[in-house]
Amino acid sequence: MRLADKVAIVTGAASGMGAATARRFGTEGAKVVVADMLEQEGRAVADSIGAAGGTAVFMALDVTDEAGWKAVVEQTVRAFGRLDILVNNAGISGSATNDLLDSGLWERVMAVNSTGVFLGTAAAVRQMRQNGGGSIVNLSSISGVVGQSMVHMSYNAAKGAVRIMTKSTAVQFGKERIRCNSVHPGVMPPMRTSGATADPEVRAKMLRAVPLGRSGEVDEVANAVLFLASDEASYITGAELYVDGGYLAM
Ligand SMILES: NC(=O)c1ccc[n+]([C@@H]2O[C@H](COP(=O)([O-])OP(=O)(O)OC[C@H]3O[C@@H](n4cnc5c(N)ncnc54)[C@H](O)[C@@H]3O)[C@@H](O)[C@H]2O)c1
Repeated sequence: MRLADKVAIVTGAASGMGAATARRFGTEGAKVVVADMLEQEGRAVADSIGAAGGTAVFMALDVTDEAGWKAVVEQTVRAFGRLDILVNNAGISGSATNDLLDSGLWERVMAVNSTGVFLGTAAAVRQMRQNGGGSIVNLSSISGVVGQSMVHMSYNAAKGAVRIMTKSTAVQFGKERIRCNSVHPGVMPPMRTSGATADPEVRAKMLRAVPLGRSGEVDEVANAVLFLASDEASYITGAELYVDGGYLAM
């Protein structure tokens, strides 16, 4: 098993790519903390990991809450003894509004998608340096690399911040054996908070920009996260891995 005896926190694991990643980690032998604001859905994901023979617990977390992060890391160490892996995956969509100049969405997206990643990184680094290292995987996006016509610029700004924070983390904590890499999904199943980008006509237009000619699947992202989280990527840090069907190659 590729994550035998590892202890992992996956944020936003009640849904979508976070849930797929948590399940995959479970089958690869990790002890998984399913961290999310959605309690019912999060508990169901943790239960499904247990039913498949893995080990998982749900912990309620709002990634914008620094005290909440401290509590989740403490509970993780109490339950499983250490923290090896953090996947900063929780996020909200940049198409949650049709008003591309909405300042309220700027605040919300920056708080969850960018500040949430910083707070998670800080909480995890404090613990990982005590247990001799670890691996952090941050979910950025193709939106962290290029602008898009239908996406609020807060989403691009936040995902761009995640992309570069990943490299800061790699540079600052590499000597403490903490690796950090970013994964950049392309056109994937819509997020819970997606607006225009969930519209079939808009999606058809977006798919025309994908060389592989189709949407990605959540498990295809989970595979990339698994690789970077695992010891197979032991000499990879500060890297960005596009899981986008070739979108950024055009
Ligand atoms: N779906 C896409 O097209 C796409 C493409 C590129 C990148 N991404 C990124 O991938 C990640 C996962 O997206 P998804 O498609 O699985 O979305 P999703 O909406 O299915 O899942 C996001 C999860 O994050 C949780 N969440 C939101 N705010 C939170 C908060 N403050 N604290 C804790 N949890 C919170 C939600 O409850 C949900 O369970 C996100 O960071 C997203 O920005 C998505």
